[in-house]
Amino acid sequence: IFPNSGAAAKALAAEVKALIEERAKEGKNVVLGMATGSTPVPFYRELIRLHKEEGLSFKNVITFNLDEYYGLTGDHPESYACFMREQIFDHIDIPKANINIPSGTVPGDQVFAHCREYEEKIDAAGGIDFQILGIGRTGHIGFNEPGSSRDSLTRRITLDRVTRQDAAADFRGEENVPHFAITMGVGTILRGKKLVLMAWGENKAEMVAKAVEGPVTEAISASFLQDHPDARFCIDEGASRELT
Ligand code: F6R
Repeated sequence: IFPNSGAAAKALAAEVKALIEERAKEGKNVVLGMATGSTPVPFYRELIRLHKEEGLSFKNVITFNLDEYYGLTGDHPESYACFMREQIFDHIDIPKANINIPSGTVPGDQVFAHCREYEEKIDAAGGIDFQILGIGRTGHIGFNEPGSSRDSLTRRITLDRVTRQDAAADFRGEENVPHFAITMGVGTILRGKKLVLMAWGENKAEMVAKAVEGPVTEAISASFLQDHPDARFCIDEGASRELT
């Protein structure tokens, strides 16, 4: 529990910096799992600062994003591809070829193959070293809505009504929010070596408490993190309010 999101973001970014620099010395890559939404923004801001002010290079970094809205092109302002360019990729020196985000425009009959290839690409890169996660009001990680199994892999899912309502303001109306997304599965996420879920503010407190202290259940995907050998919740005071 950190006093605020800025302090947590700083500590996590310093950890990622150390990992990147250690691997660079060995001539090796680091594979980062990336999240979108409001939660990781302070963390990305700090990574950009480390690049600009402290010379941190991302040349040996490979990224895999958790998810993308299905039906949005990469230049749609609410696509996660666009979000990632604006919030981080355009401001650091990561090679474009190292960036992986599920496609929101792959034709329906190719979704299955696309998702399988995404899984294979993660494996070929050596697996995810450090996975960033947020948590939704439904307890989702990635877009693994309630009912997602522990072994689920990258796939197209139907977004929960609550998740679509939460995105409504960004899309100027719930009717404009896509109904589907492509997301890494719970099983994909659990294969990551180090998992960090961030959550800020009191409106996350109830879900954080359920995920950390409640039963491990398909009803709350984030609860599966309890069974992972190296998963942490990095939260602020507000998000910690309901913990016993
Ligand atoms: C985004 C993602 C989601 C969000 C979650 C919280 O890539 O996978 O699980 O992390 O919906 O969203 P925010 O951070 O906007 O509250």
